[in-house]
Amino acid sequence: MRIYVLGAGSIGSLLGALLTKAGEEVTLIGREEQVRAIRNGGLKVTGVEEFTVRPLAEVYAPEEPPDLLILAVKSYSTKTALECARHCIGKDTWILSIQNGLGNEELALKYTPKVIGGITTNGAMLVDWGKVKWTGRGVTVIGKYPVGDDAFIHEVAEVFNGAGIETRVTQNAVGWKWAKTIVNSVINGLGSVLEVKNGFLKENPYLESISIEVAREGCIVAQQLGIEFEIHPLELLWDTIERTRDNYNSTLQDLMRGRRTEIDYINGKIVEYAQSVGLEAPRNELLWALVKAKEGQNR
Ligand SMILES: NC(=O)c1ccc[n+]([C@@H]2O[C@H](COP(=O)([O-])OP(=O)(O)OC[C@H]3O[C@@H](n4cnc5c(N)ncnc54)[C@H](OP(=O)(O)O)[C@@H]3O)[C@@H](O)[C@H]2O)c1
Repeated sequence: MRIYVLGAGSIGSLLGALLTKAGEEVTLIGREEQVRAIRNGGLKVTGVEEFTVRPLAEVYAPEEPPDLLILAVKSYSTKTALECARHCIGKDTWILSIQNGLGNEELALKYTPKVIGGITTNGAMLVDWGKVKWTGRGVTVIGKYPVGDDAFIHEVAEVFNGAGIETRVTQNAVGWKWAKTIVNSVINGLGSVLEVKNGFLKENPYLESISIEVAREGCIVAQQLGIEFEIHPLELLWDTIERTRDNYNSTLQDLMRGRRTEIDYINGKIVEYAQSVGLEAPRNELLWALVKAKEGQNR
């Protein structure tokens, strides 16, 4: 399968490396330093598995359309990244977002109806140019966005599973995106404001009840939008907290590095969607505003 990974950062480099190792025709599209490092010394993976591969690497997407374009930029970069790559989105190209937050698939749908929504619980960190650490093995769920099925998505799952990326297909991608976003609205929102590791949210009785309230608010908005869940977001929340108890969430990590966060696409989107159906989401709005304040302070 010809695959372009748009955004050769942490998760994009990991997926690109695994797919290259499995013999797929992968091009990583990334920043100049990353492209130079990959061209010079290959792409080195450490952590869960250790190996080096030599995928193609470009600063701009090649002209020839891929079968699959994986969106792996932060959500705030999606609009620009898609515009930069629009020339390669052919009539048979599928776009897969494995990003966190809401709104990325809607942007991709402006270019093609062939959009796949995805979530992944794999963890990756770009430790240096050309070097990515696979910090934790996880599962990936993909499906036609917003709902439905297509034979190509099963082909993608087969390719991913063949590359060691454990993947399953859902007919309800939008439900998974919302469930993961609700989980992130608690972990990233609350965890970043309090500057705590994920596990603390469950260990502390005050935070456990606040977590439930924040998640419930997101569930009510989703319900109003007619979104159904295959797994209840609260179940996914406790499971995620348990598995990542010793981690700092990605929003907090971004704040620590003085980087922009994806909070507009997590708690911010839940507030936006709430307003679109005449609801309020005060807990999400408060967490969003507090993280935005911290973001402004850091930057
Ligand atoms: N890392 C994980 O473990 C993980 C797990 C699950 C989901 N996710 C989600 O996956 C998405 C990506 O996360 P990440 O951690 O991989 O972020 P990241 O490390 O910041 O990687 C994104 C990369 O894309 C680059 N980029 C942005 N716009 C580009 C463009 N137009 N052309 C080429 N490259 C471009 C960025 O460069 P600049 O920094 O210079 O903009 C950055 O190097 C996020 O939505 C995240 O929530 C991540």
